Amino acid sequence: MAVKNVELGDLTNKNINQLKLLNSTILPISYDEKFYLNLLTNGFMTKLAFFNDVVVGAVSCRIDPPSDGCETSSLYIMTLGVLAPYRNLGIGKKLIEHLDTYCKSNKFSKIFLHVQVGSEAIEWYKKQNFQTESLITNYYRHIEPADCYSMSKTITPTTTTETNTTTSK
Ligand SMILES: CC(C)(COP(=O)(O)OP(=O)(O)OC[C@H]1O[C@@H](n2cnc3c(N)ncnc32)[C@H](O)[C@@H]1OP(=O)(O)O)[C@@H](O)C(=O)NCCC(=O)NCCS
Repeated sequence: MAVKNVELGDLTNKNINQLKLLNSTILPISYDEKFYLNLLTNGFMTKLAFFNDVVVGAVSCRIDPPSDGCETSSLYIMTLGVLAPYRNLGIGKKLIEHLDTYCKSNKFSKIFLHVQVGSEAIEWYKKQNFQTESLITNYYRHIEPADCYSMSKTITPTTTTETNTTTSK
């Protein structure tokens, strides 16, 4: 399977159960009904990766408005995962590229996240140009190890030249 056969789509009432199943299969933390209902509202952004109409990967983000010390909004990755048989095919990278594009078009300056100490995803995020910011001890209440790293990626605004290139395609 090539990643070109994977299409990205939006979260809806009809496919939200597929996201719940995906997350419960992949992630160590379980998320309640309120978490999923929030994803369908403004202030959150989810992108699903479909292969033959089945959700095989997803990223869910919270949109953080400008706050003290930061004049622009940021995206906070709450969950990201790809089903094991579909890993190393570029699907995770495609989801991050979508976030980059989303941030550029909305003039967001940063994508950030927390990742459990010891997770293989740390090196993976570094490969996607995220940097480790700090170690936070006792961040998780229900999983061990409880410590995490905060990681982030600065989004460079699209230049006029890049915009022209995109629109002329
Ligand atoms: C982390 C995760 C989302 C990556 O998704 P994926 O679709 O397998 O990743 P991709 O195929 O897009 O990987 C892109 C690149 O990273 C590389 N890569 C894959 N896994 C890697 C790892 N553990 N460490 C470093 N690089 C890795 C790939 O070889 C590929 O390299 P290339 O661009 O040079 O070809 C997936 O492994 C996963 O769901 N893990 C479990 C859940 C999790 O840890 N989520 C993140 C914490 S919330």
